[in-house]
Amino acid sequence: MELGGKTAIITGAANGLGKATAIKLAGAGARVALVDIDRESLCQVKESILLAGGEAREFVVDITQKPDIKAAVAEILSTFGAIDILVNNAGIGWQHQAPFKDIMDDSWEKILDLNIKGTLYFTHAVLGHLAERRYGKIVNIASIAAKVGIANLAAYSASKGAMVSFTKALAMEMGPYNVNVNCISPGLVSNDAVPPPSNGTYLGRKGTTEEMASLIVFIASDEASYITGANYLIDGGRTLGPKGI
Ligand SMILES: NC(=O)c1ccc[n+]([C@@H]2O[C@H](COP(=O)([O-])OP(=O)(O)OC[C@H]3O[C@@H](n4cnc5c(N)ncnc54)[C@H](O)[C@@H]3O)[C@@H](O)[C@H]2O)c1
Repeated sequence: MELGGKTAIITGAANGLGKATAIKLAGAGARVALVDIDRESLCQVKESILLAGGEAREFVVDITQKPDIKAAVAEILSTFGAIDILVNNAGIGWQHQAPFKDIMDDSWEKILDLNIKGTLYFTHAVLGHLAERRYGKIVNIASIAAKVGIANLAAYSASKGAMVSFTKALAMEMGPYNVNVNCISPGLVSNDAVPPPSNGTYLGRKGTTEEMASLIVFIASDEASYITGANYLIDGGRTLGPKGI
């Protein structure tokens, strides 16, 4: 995938899927704006991209704070001149596992604030620019929780379901502006280089962050120019039916 001359913003770029995506987008030639609250890890990601000959800059932003996002988008535009790709990746949930009847309000509110409000805020902040240029790719990172729900992750499941619906509605609105809006729904992903065996997938292992990043880079490229409003399951078959009867 050739992304030379494109600028991509990745939220939650300091770790996990966001980090792998930033590295892969930069490897495909994109200039990457790395957004996260974790300054130290963000700088490490930036350094590794620069070392590999890529172009990257870090933006330490809490994406639940609307004014900070607006300021960051303005800074990204003055740094790189344009925005072509937005990957709404930053998200939490697994850290707050509990039956919904027992979960504390501030815990599920945090999940919705980041996963939903953060995604909507950031998207809203770049849409005018994308519409004006008649070009853009938005990739939202949902979860298999949006398709099947996950027990003890009710708020997380709700947030990811909302993300899929948001993707579809926005794709309808932004099609006339040549802005593609898509979504991926990963199953369990390993952050280790070697994924541990099985967790109920038909492929007998967890996915890797690099496997997620490959799909994201494809969707963000012009190779996927006729795809919009889609939600790609990438889960090793985890949400397929039972293994026999
Ligand atoms: N890892 C999985 O198994 C899995 C499965 C399905 C979906 N997902 C989704 O993929 C995305 C990335 O997951 P991950 O496992 O790589 O997570 P991660 O915890 O490894 O990384 C998330 C990043 O988001 C950043 N972040 C947290 N709050 C922030 C805020 N307020 N503002 C800006 N940045 C913030 C964190 O600092 C961190 O760098 C999430 O949306 C998650 O829901 C992950």
